[in-house]
Amino acid sequence: MLDFKNVEYSYSNQPVFSELNFELSQSEFCFLIGKSGAGKSTLLQLIYMNILPTQGRISFDEYDSRTIKPRNLPLLRRKLGIIFQDFKLLKDRNVYENLSFVLESTNKSSGEIKKKVNDVLTDVGLSHRRHSMPNELSGGEKQRIAIARAIVNDPILILADEPTGNLDPETSLEILEIIKKINLRGTAVIFATHNYELLKSYNAKIIRIEGGKASKVVIKPKQ
Ligand SMILES: Nc1ncnc2c1ncn2[C@@H]1O[C@H](COP(=O)(O)OP(=O)(O)OP(=O)(O)O)[C@@H](O)[C@H]1O
Ligand SMILES: [Mg+2]
Repeated sequence: MLDFKNVEYSYSNQPVFSELNFELSQSEFCFLIGKSGAGKSTLLQLIYMNILPTQGRISFDEYDSRTIKPRNLPLLRRKLGIIFQDFKLLKDRNVYENLSFVLESTNKSSGEIKKKVNDVLTDVGLSHRRHSMPNELSGGEKQRIAIARAIVNDPILILADEPTGNLDPETSLEILEIIKKINLRGTAVIFATHNYELLKSYNAKIIRIEGGKASKVVIKPKQ
């Protein structure tokens, strides 16, 4: 479903990836680890095709980095759900509007939008907060809304860039549990994190980015 083949990427003359090979199957969960500056966020941006490889190729679903046309980027991105460390909710809209906004560009009826938004809010356990403004929510609640927003389009892949970076350990585990549940329903996930405790909580593939390359890491799951 996702395949990086000999990907090279540089910011001006600063190389980040030299020969990056990495693949992800449908419904797979993968933790992405690596030192600060190793290139985790850059790897996620390459999937989003916000940036394109300087060499090599990335294929995601039916899209290929060598042939993608700008007009197809919105279609590609509709297949992705993206979650950031700092939530990125629209501050001037309530929870419901933050989610319905994503569906406005699709051709869903208002009834369908309402049902879908309520369904994803139920998935993250926050349907009772649908009228709240983002500044009335805790960090963990904001992240749950951001997860709901990421799944409202039924993506095939979720990209989570340090989604627990601003949260306490207990809330971080709750966020992982929600993302795990979504993964078990069949959505693939790439979860970039510095939180090594989380790695022990889910027996999933771990990829470390180091020296411009990706390698598999094996750790023992928690007993
Ligand atoms: N827009 C940019 N322009 C130039 N260099 C950049 C840009 N974004 C990132 N870099 C550089 O690319 C390298 C990889 O950065 P990236 O943000 O992908 O790392 P990261 O693994 O996500 O780090 P962190 O764990 O701190 O989030 C770093 O050396 C960084 O300084
Ligand atoms: Mg990063």
